[in-house]
Amino acid sequence: MTRIIDGKAVAANVVEQVKDHTALFKQDTDRVPGLAVVLVGEDPASQVYIASKSKKAEECGFHSVQHTLDADTSQDDLLVLIETLNADEAIDGILVQLPLPEQIDAGKVIQTIAPEKDVDGFHFSNVGKLTTGELGTGFVPCTPAGSMLLIEMIHGKDLSGLDAVVVGRSNIVGKPMASLLLAANATVTIAHSRTRDLPELCRTADILVAAVGRPQMIKGEWIKEGATVIDVGINRVPAPEKGEGKTRLVGDVDFTSAKDEAAAITPVPGGVGPMTIALLMANTLRSAYLRAG
Ligand code: GUN
Repeated sequence: MTRIIDGKAVAANVVEQVKDHTALFKQDTDRVPGLAVVLVGEDPASQVYIASKSKKAEECGFHSVQHTLDADTSQDDLLVLIETLNADEAIDGILVQLPLPEQIDAGKVIQTIAPEKDVDGFHFSNVGKLTTGELGTGFVPCTPAGSMLLIEMIHGKDLSGLDAVVVGRSNIVGKPMASLLLAANATVTIAHSRTRDLPELCRTADILVAAVGRPQMIKGEWIKEGATVIDVGINRVPAPEKGEGKTRLVGDVDFTSAKDEAAAITPVPGGVGPMTIALLMANTLRSAYLRAG
């Protein structure tokens, strides 16, 4: 029987632990962890993500603030807001939702966030700590960190002897995912749009992580029998069967065919997605502890 990995349940567990520790943190320090989320523009998917991040922060007992800026906000105005949040003692985590409008240099924005408040783990300082294995003080990006927890549930913490293939080379998911798998002793290959024979490479994977943003691209026949499949994709596609104009969410993996080959697989929705938000809460709590000294 294929194990359908219940990310929603695992995430709820992580959130419960965060809530408990938040209560203890409050007893010890007389304050609660603070998370600021920043959205520039009106991208509907980003609006949904930001709203669920703020809501979860409140549920955890955090001080939660949301800044929504107009789509035509200048880079300078956004940088001033970030500097203000950097200096705000009540804020432990700053998250600027990506993508940003084209007049804004996302790289510059990310590097302006104080590394000790960079709960997304995108600042060079945190990327460097992850790739060099200095995990004690840095932040790991939330989606790969959440995916890694699911992989640990199946395989334990030591992936020695296992072949992992990460499809996608983004800074947000693919590259940090590969770093985490490597740190856990897996043999790691990163595949991308220029990879020669993607189906053949995927068939070598004991652990396959799909993070390409292409609906149902990875088919069942690309998957090695008994593999663990982690589907990071969240793609909205038309669903005429639900009625005219309706949509549904699908992953980067063709779940129906893949589940017959895999030993364990994450569904979409309800797999990696809830883990991302849970790990953002865990990172924010951790930031609060680190900043409290
Ligand atoms: N856009 C898509 N994924 C992410 C993420 O993990 N963090 C931020 N800030 N923006 C995103």
